[in-house]
Amino acid sequence: MSGSILGAEVPRVLDFIPLRRSDIPELVRITRENMAQIILSAWGVEWRDETLLETLMNANLRIEVALEGEQVVGYYVLDQMEDYVFIISIQLERKHQGEGLGRCLMERVEESAWRSGLEGVELCVQSTNDQAIGFYRHLGYRLASRRRNNLTMRKAFERKA
Ligand SMILES: CC(C)(COP(=O)(O)OP(=O)(O)OC[C@H]1O[C@@H](n2cnc3c(N)ncnc32)[C@H](O)[C@@H]1OP(=O)(O)O)[C@@H](O)C(=O)NCCC(=O)NCCS
Repeated sequence: MSGSILGAEVPRVLDFIPLRRSDIPELVRITRENMAQIILSAWGVEWRDETLLETLMNANLRIEVALEGEQVVGYYVLDQMEDYVFIISIQLERKHQGEGLGRCLMERVEESAWRSGLEGVELCVQSTNDQAIGFYRHLGYRLASRRRNNLTMRKAFERKA
């Protein structure tokens, strides 16, 4: 993950912070822009901000916001299962997609799960979200199950005995 200033490659630095209430409108906007069309095509329902707000207000979930400087560039929502961490949502601001930031967020989630002694990482993705499915496959996630238009994908860690 790097950028260019006057031709010189410089690493991009992300900070991760717990969700602040003031971030919520921005996260809702980012997610609506990313997901409204996908949700309509996969589930046949219109986007509702309220559904996401319930998730963002759920104190049992771990939500981290990625900042570049002062700017919110993305976030993820995690649920701790018995053996796996489950990614409920991972979203990047549209203009920052395809710049390596998604890999950065996923690696942070995986490292945290690894350090916690978990077996791996799981997530759910709509079957119409070809871009995300390709991204997850590229990072080593494989189909675990399929229910209607929802795919569960999983990456199990290899731990030496
Ligand atoms: C899905 C998402 C998080 C991916 O993040 P991103 O920043 O765009 O992806 P990155 O640029 O970090 O890509 C990381 C790697 O995956 C590869 N990749 C990305 N999309 C790919 C695709 N569709 N097929 C194959 N490889 C892909 C990249 O080439 C890159 O490879 P490299 O690191 O080996 O060079 C982001 O695009 C996003 O927020 N999308 C909209 C919201 C969404 O769909 N979220 C998932 C909901 S389930």
